[in-house]
Amino acid sequence: MITTAPELLSDTDAGHHRAAGILRDGGLVAFPTETVYGLGADAGDDRAVARIYEAKGRPSFNPLIVHFADLDALQQHVIWTPEADLLARAYWPGPLTLVLRRQPDTPISALVSAGLDTLAVRLPAHDTARAILRAFGGGVAAPSANRSGQISPTLARHVVGSLGARVDAVLDGGPCKVGVESTIVGLAEKPVLLRPGGITEQQLAQTLGRPLAVRHKAEAISAPGQLASHYAPNALVRLNATDWEQGELRLGFGNVDCDLNLSPTEDLVEAASHLFDYLHRLDAQGGGTIAVSPIPHEGLGIAINDRLSRAAAPRDE
Ligand code: TXA
Ligand code: MG
Repeated sequence: MITTAPELLSDTDAGHHRAAGILRDGGLVAFPTETVYGLGADAGDDRAVARIYEAKGRPSFNPLIVHFADLDALQQHVIWTPEADLLARAYWPGPLTLVLRRQPDTPISALVSAGLDTLAVRLPAHDTARAILRAFGGGVAAPSANRSGQISPTLARHVVGSLGARVDAVLDGGPCKVGVESTIVGLAEKPVLLRPGGITEQQLAQTLGRPLAVRHKAEAISAPGQLASHYAPNALVRLNATDWEQGELRLGFGNVDCDLNLSPTEDLVEAASHLFDYLHRLDAQGGGTIAVSPIPHEGLGIAINDRLSRAAAPRDE
């Protein structure tokens, strides 16, 4: 069905359940949090997560924050630490995101982490967000609900103006109180402030009883894909392969004979949804080179090619 505008949902029980139903069906729902409106998708559904990147028009795969209604559910997906416990007790629910190691067997999409072995998680305080998350019953991946490069939305009409029918539904819960995105703290190693926000560095240091390292802004926000910790395969990566060489691991796209196919029908959403998982799977076979079919340089293909060219770039030892 071709639509020109998203479905508008009311901030009622019926609206919250409708939002949860759309998420369950793999759809995108924009909803208010205390910081900004989020563009939500089922974090366990690779295809739904790929649609977030498509709707935002992001030229690269920035990792996403996964939102939960309660701490027990959240803790199943990450390796919890004493420092996470201190910060969670002090600031959750609220505008704080923690980056922790992923549980190796978590069903959260690898695309959410953009191939990293860490996961950003948050327990929002906004009643509407919590009601939707409870009705949905799982983790919801949600970046700010705006096209890439535009200003973050704090009203439902900002979302409609920026994303239009690229989002399936928008739940209007009024203005967001905080208005800037959550503070992000990395806890996978020593505590590091990855993005400043409403909760200050001083508050965090006081709660932890020690200072935080501060990561350089440009590194943390504009280019997480370039962080040293970012997943790069052990195998070499050969791009734009139109034929295969002896012994190569073959990552195809389109109607080609190969080991794993990102999308036999040349669907870029499907290709994005498989990208990180398939790179991991081929790499686990321990071969020397992963050869990849050409991917069209349009729409989501731009983000896919960005990631692949990083994976293929010469490595430091
Ligand atoms: O307030 C917020 O945090 C809003 C609302 C909707 O919750 N969300 C938000 O998401 O600001 P987004 O996608 O605009 O920003 C998420 C940022 C990424 O750009 C990245 O810098 C960082 O979070 N991030 C996410 N996962 C990460 C990870 N595993 N490691 C390092 N940084 C991560
Ligand atoms: Mg944003």
